[in-house]
Amino acid sequence: LKTLTISDLAAMKRAGEKISCLTAYDASFSALLDRAGIDVLLIGDSLGMVIQGHDSTLPVTVSDMVYHSRSVATARKRAFVVTDLPFASYATPEQALLNAASLMQAGGAQMVKLEGAKIEVIRFLVDQGIPVCGHLGLLPQSVNRLGGYKVQGREAQQARQIVADAEKIEQAGASLLVLECVPSGLAAEISQRLSIPTIGIGAGVDCDGQVLVLYDMLNISTGKRPRFSKDFMADASSIEEAVRHYHQAVKSAQFPAAEHSY
Ligand code: KIV
Ligand code: NA
Repeated sequence: LKTLTISDLAAMKRAGEKISCLTAYDASFSALLDRAGIDVLLIGDSLGMVIQGHDSTLPVTVSDMVYHSRSVATARKRAFVVTDLPFASYATPEQALLNAASLMQAGGAQMVKLEGAKIEVIRFLVDQGIPVCGHLGLLPQSVNRLGGYKVQGREAQQARQIVADAEKIEQAGASLLVLECVPSGLAAEISQRLSIPTIGIGAGVDCDGQVLVLYDMLNISTGKRPRFSKDFMADASSIEEAVRHYHQAVKSAQFPAAEHSY
């Protein structure tokens, strides 16, 4: 493979090198982020909000994800490409396999990401040779059940549940885990317990890597920027410079600061 692989990401964790990740949805940004050194490009179903203008990720389809994933995968040279399985596309192992295969074959994904402790689904995909990224904490595809976008794992019992789920996800064979909007201490504990890398968003500086929604960190998203994000355009004279600053800030553990964490 000419691109980074899951072995490279695992080695980065072992070496204590932070993993930089941003969302990407098209070829132009993909090439720019790749040039700036970003390690992982996530074709997130956040595209339902920042590209399609919906107020949640629920309307996004597998064919939307294939289209954007292919655009990103084609244009990058080095970065590792992870694509989200969208809402209700992985209810059973068989359905998950069919849709993950589309994201990989037509979309060029190297790994698929899915929300929650779907242990059976994860194990099945891994058995078929499909690398999986888990996602715990705030699960945007469950926003209607959660009753809004809120920090998760503040209470002891819920925190213990998230730790247990993280361990089950690793045991099921996942190779990466996104932690979204959880207290820094909880994310630090999980990152220390797991041997697979954790990628945080609103989860503090002790995760093994960081991810942000590209349009939030470029300050071009509509509405209020979430607390955990940062406007990297504020001190930059170009988009590429902003992305380079983000990359350096992640690598040097200067981002996220306490003000971006819970
Ligand atoms: O869809 C997305 O952008 C994501 C990240 C925020 C982790 O899942
Ligand atoms: Na997502």
